[in-house]
Amino acid sequence: MCGIVGYIGSKNAVDLLINGLESLEYRGYDSAGIAVFDGEKINVKKEKGRLSGLRELIDKNPVSGKLGIGHTRWATHGVPSVKNSHPHTNSDGSIAVVHNGIIENHEALKDFLRENGYTFKSETDTEVIPLLIDYYYDGDLLSAVRKTAEKLDGSYAIGVIASAEPDKLVAVRKDSPLIVGLTDNGNFIASDIPAILSETRDVYLLNDGEFVTLTKDNVFVCDIDANPIKKEIYKVEFSAQASQKDGYDHFMMKEIHEQPQAIRNTLRGRLDKNLGLTLDNIEFSDKIQKLYIVACGTAYHAGLVGKKAIEKLAKLPCEVCLASEFRYGEPLINDSTAVLVVSQSGETADTLAVLRMAKKLGNTVYAITNVVGSSVAREADYVFYTYAGPEIAVASTKAYTTQLAAFYLFAVSLAEKRGTVSENKLDDIKNQLLGMDAVIEKALTRDAEVKALAEKIAKEHDIYFLGRGLDYFIALEASLKLKEISYIHSDAYASGELKHGPIALIEDGTVVISICTDPEISNKLNSNVKEVTARGAVTVGFTSCLSDTSAYSEVIELPQIDPLLAPLPAIIPLQLLAYYVCTAKGYDVDKPRNLAKSVTVE
Ligand code: M6R
Repeated sequence: MCGIVGYIGSKNAVDLLINGLESLEYRGYDSAGIAVFDGEKINVKKEKGRLSGLRELIDKNPVSGKLGIGHTRWATHGVPSVKNSHPHTNSDGSIAVVHNGIIENHEALKDFLRENGYTFKSETDTEVIPLLIDYYYDGDLLSAVRKTAEKLDGSYAIGVIASAEPDKLVAVRKDSPLIVGLTDNGNFIASDIPAILSETRDVYLLNDGEFVTLTKDNVFVCDIDANPIKKEIYKVEFSAQASQKDGYDHFMMKEIHEQPQAIRNTLRGRLDKNLGLTLDNIEFSDKIQKLYIVACGTAYHAGLVGKKAIEKLAKLPCEVCLASEFRYGEPLINDSTAVLVVSQSGETADTLAVLRMAKKLGNTVYAITNVVGSSVAREADYVFYTYAGPEIAVASTKAYTTQLAAFYLFAVSLAEKRGTVSENKLDDIKNQLLGMDAVIEKALTRDAEVKALAEKIAKEHDIYFLGRGLDYFIALEASLKLKEISYIHSDAYASGELKHGPIALIEDGTVVISICTDPEISNKLNSNVKEVTARGAVTVGFTSCLSDTSAYSEVIELPQIDPLLAPLPAIIPLQLLAYYVCTAKGYDVDKPRNLAKSVTVE
């Protein structure tokens, strides 16, 4: 969380920093700030809240300069306020720092600095960084940053400027993302590629422990002992356009509509029209007897579906775990297990920690991720990119459906290898996957009905989702989507569990949304829906297979498809539902309160 950007070159840094921050605002929007060297001194401008506030501040009191750093904050230590906003400086303002991550030993470092006469202006962990740099500074900024980094525990991507060395910008990363953008008019650092895409497609992807010194026409990368490191230029393939709204009111709606294309991108080069399937260069050893699927949030929900698909087709036992639980849960990793992490961003702290833990324990780590060159992508043994294109809205949509597509490909490929299902059945699944873009297009046509439903339920305080089997997993994802952007309390239940507790919540008028895509268990779900209707619930069905809909106040039809693949199109109208409830309430769709797109701290 938090986004950082920095520039040194021949252009005005202010516009470049603000533009960069705009693309990074998805990483946090509690406050924004910049520090710019104006030829004499470092000017710091910061404002609580959205970037628009900082823009207004700068319009009233302009600053300019050709060296600067910027930050958009997701508060961890200290409330959102001007005082706690980055950049943070040393006492005379000659050193300025932006930071993404958490300094876990900040209390000990504060004690050390206080003993050495330093005082603190903010409640943040970050403030120890400019003060430590000040402490170690003896005329060589890179050396002071290296000595500082040696003292820091935790995660960080840091950008530093100093008025005594106005010809350079120094940066370093450990467990927080950081890239370098290279141009003929200067060089950039940024937390993520979209921040520099309007200026360049040539980047260095920094690894943990790499320090970088940028000047206007050079970039020097080294390790903590100042040994030079040679970096390859990575050419970014997606366009700046892919990070724009393209006429949609919100990124979320754009990304919902991009799903047919995103699925085509995931399948391209892997599944051909003759039903040949190759999973890049991914290899599965015959020794693997159990797969741990580990992820957070929406990616975890994709993993739940993935487990069903792999177990049903490939008969390989899977366990799906939340990364934050798995890493502290003493999992039974051994020679016959492997770990598959799923992460859109490839930077989620808990997921990355699991990846590292599994590797350390000698397990093969597979990754399904969207962001090319992300930490997960670089550190996993085998990477499967979803190629969904940049996902900007905090609420994940196309990342989820492309993760599902990835899991289906994994499941089919494993089933082929293990000979667990007939060729005909697998060909049928492959054919349906190839036609999935059209099925999703069909699901998108429910837009008007879903919008009308959203307007009816937008004032509710609680909304419950029900499902059985895979439909329960769809319910979990639908409920997460709704609560994260509409702030309506929502839970999803496996419908068979209702009578074991949750049914006590039902009263007159409670809205219950049930999902039914599997004809084999539709009668069971129907009985549960009748039970809640009898207790006063207003029930809405999202279904592709109910013959008896008498218990429902309203029904939204889902496309017909093999029940194993049903989560893919079924989630589409439910994403639209969350979107329209949010817009009906007038909330910020793309930047819901308290959230950030990339959770890079645990
Ligand atoms: O980048 P990741 O896939 O690792 O992110 C995991 C979750 O933080 C993410 O899916 C989150 O739950 C979304 N905001 C849900 O829409």
